Amino acid sequence: MTPPHQPPTPQQQTPPAPAQNQAPPQPQQPPRPTAPAIPPANYPVDTPTITAYMPEAIESYPQESAPKQDNGYLSDPSAEYESNAPVSEPKPVGGRRRADVQQDAPSQVGNDQSASHRAARRAQAMASAAASSAIGGSAAPVENKPSGGSGPGDGTKKPRRYRVHHLRDMKNRGEKWAMLTAYDQYTAEIFDQSGIPVLLVGDSAANNVFGYETTLRVTVDELIPLARAVAGAVERALVVADLPFGSYQASPEQAFHTAVRFMKEAGVHAVKLEGGRNMVPMVEKLTQSGIPVMAHIGFTPQSEHSIGGYRVQGRGDQAAGLIDDAVALAEAGAFSVVLEMVPGDVAAEITKRVSIPTIGIGAGRDTDAQVLVWQDMAGLRSGTMPRFVKQYADLRGILTTAATTYAADVASGTFPTDEHTF
Ligand code: KIV
Repeated sequence: MTPPHQPPTPQQQTPPAPAQNQAPPQPQQPPRPTAPAIPPANYPVDTPTITAYMPEAIESYPQESAPKQDNGYLSDPSAEYESNAPVSEPKPVGGRRRADVQQDAPSQVGNDQSASHRAARRAQAMASAAASSAIGGSAAPVENKPSGGSGPGDGTKKPRRYRVHHLRDMKNRGEKWAMLTAYDQYTAEIFDQSGIPVLLVGDSAANNVFGYETTLRVTVDELIPLARAVAGAVERALVVADLPFGSYQASPEQAFHTAVRFMKEAGVHAVKLEGGRNMVPMVEKLTQSGIPVMAHIGFTPQSEHSIGGYRVQGRGDQAAGLIDDAVALAEAGAFSVVLEMVPGDVAAEITKRVSIPTIGIGAGRDTDAQVLVWQDMAGLRSGTMPRFVKQYADLRGILTTAATTYAADVASGTFPTDEHTF
């Protein structure tokens, strides 16, 4: 064995001749430059404006029956829906595009054998998914099946692929649904298989992936690879990408070019942008070009500095303006609207006024849908959570235990054993 930090011997520098029909070894890559230090993730959740948030009584607005809008999305149940049964066996998480680790596979596989090898890899990935679920607490093997989760309620048919008109249909039927952020292949697959109808590749990747202090710094070039991973990993969910700060506000044309990049380079199905009536020209340009747009009003993190911090929006006198924003964006063609940190009764009023789905985050229980950042929902992030977050798991605790146990096993020689040795 070569001791560490010693130059390789000439014999080691000569690559071994490739075996017949085996791929030659790849040339060694030069070492990667060390990434510059980045500031710690710091979603400013514990600012006084959030902790002091108290829903207040606000003016009530006359309830008009929502005008039926037809923005051209046809509902064709026969083509798009399926019965409650899963379409097919769920694919194993990560199994479709992951380079599988060679076990004791022969060096070459004939074409006639490739199907059975694919099936074997699939079964293996299913088994490892079940095993990792067992590590999380249950000793019994866990079936890697979609739960059905959020989506059309029990007994109704689920779309094979969620389209914007399905979300409208769900609003009309009074069915609530959940949206989550996703920024990578595995979470996208898990959430898709859990029945989450819409996944958002949010610019919150700034805080939750890249470790920036605010969403303002994340760029189109940084978000596109994440969006591509998510869009490539789902079978059923509608994938929406956030247009980051500075990539759409200058003009409808700028918005169009940025949105086209996300559609072509990442394969997302829709885009999201922040802003009220000032965004109507951008929403019109995109929707008229065939790009579905999710709007985002209330607290809009990209305007954090002009808003003056993380503050509830739409209280008191501001409520009427917020309602006008939602109505204008719906009329411009937006297929849904996120309401962030909006008093519950204002969100309820907007939800009645517009025919498109409203998606709340810190906007109470009366919106048509809810969204959370997945790391908040699953307890991966540390620190104080915003009041609107409910934590459904303790992934940080689970990963900490896994990593410390692994390190202890390596230190004590408990891992690897013969079982893990070729
Ligand atoms: O970027 C994001 O994650 C969002 C949601 C929280 C709505 O905009």
